[in-house]
Amino acid sequence: MNTQIKEIKVGWESPSNIALVKYWGKKDFQSPANPSISFTLNNAVTKTSIVAVENIEQLGISLEFYFENQLNEAFADKIKAYLEKAVGTFSWLNSYHLIIHSDNTFPHSSGIASSASAFSAIALCLCSLHEQIEIKPLSNFFQVASNWARIGSGSACRSVYGGYNLWGKTIVCENSADEYAIHLESEIHENFRHLTDTILIIEKGKKSVSSTQGHALLKNHPFAEHRYTIAADNTIELLNILKTGDMQAFIHLVEREALMLHALMMTSPTPFILIKPNTLAVIEKIWDYRNQTGCELLFTLDAGANVHLIASAKDNEQVQKFVKNELIGYCQNGLYFCNEIGMGPKKINYA
Ligand code: PMV
Repeated sequence: MNTQIKEIKVGWESPSNIALVKYWGKKDFQSPANPSISFTLNNAVTKTSIVAVENIEQLGISLEFYFENQLNEAFADKIKAYLEKAVGTFSWLNSYHLIIHSDNTFPHSSGIASSASAFSAIALCLCSLHEQIEIKPLSNFFQVASNWARIGSGSACRSVYGGYNLWGKTIVCENSADEYAIHLESEIHENFRHLTDTILIIEKGKKSVSSTQGHALLKNHPFAEHRYTIAADNTIELLNILKTGDMQAFIHLVEREALMLHALMMTSPTPFILIKPNTLAVIEKIWDYRNQTGCELLFTLDAGANVHLIASAKDNEQVQKFVKNELIGYCQNGLYFCNEIGMGPKKINYA
């Protein structure tokens, strides 16, 4: 280690992602019970900077965490627990005090999942710090970052790349892994290269059941094993659809995945419901509109009430009119966010 380096600053902007085949259920600690596929968003981004200050007398992890410029003890405790798991890989964590600043480009209470963007940004910062402290490039930087993002929040491992990403072992993809996500590079048909995702905020605020609790409820779920088989099959089918460009098959598969996720919640040993009447009203509107106009738009849902309205970018004008004329009334305070498929994280350079 270079003893000259006393203070290092790194930063990353990292996006959220939306799953098309859903990760819901763990095999063991942060290992997915089935593979999942997502695309990265361009506008739901967390910007994180870390200043690492060397302190050789330090005992264990030491940090301060500022969220939107406010010292946040609750987040600091969460990140401390996370960093304690990372010490094995990043041993310098025991001798550097970290000053972490994090901001989101979307409101924290909007109901948009922020753990994927937050943990991918932190994991990328850890990898950048590692390279500078050890003065050695990581040969597989994004793979290591994806692995550490996963330890923070499973879906976060799919946020370290742009475009479409696959997490979890599947027989049809040799380099797929449960430990990190891989980027699906050349396999994407033109029809799926330019999609938009309009996130309709049906309900702001914290969810009544967290994803951590939701994953745990799969443990004694009567349909769990069947679900894992279906999800593994859907992954293989979606990989094929993404290659061939079959939009109708895409619509059918992605909507079934979203509804199955929520059906699993409703049929857990301790059932819970995260969708709201307006979620269903919006889904019906989308189905009616698709039937009437032939416009190839579709929905997906994450673990909450909000609706992700997905469409081809070429139909964006028509879709935005539909949102303004027919859907905005179902959104809390008329709130919605427009996204496209994003290019992935960006390193922040400090002069
Ligand atoms: O990454 P977690 O533990 O917050 O779980 C995410 C679960 C879903 O968003 C519902 C699905 C997914 O694959 O992103």
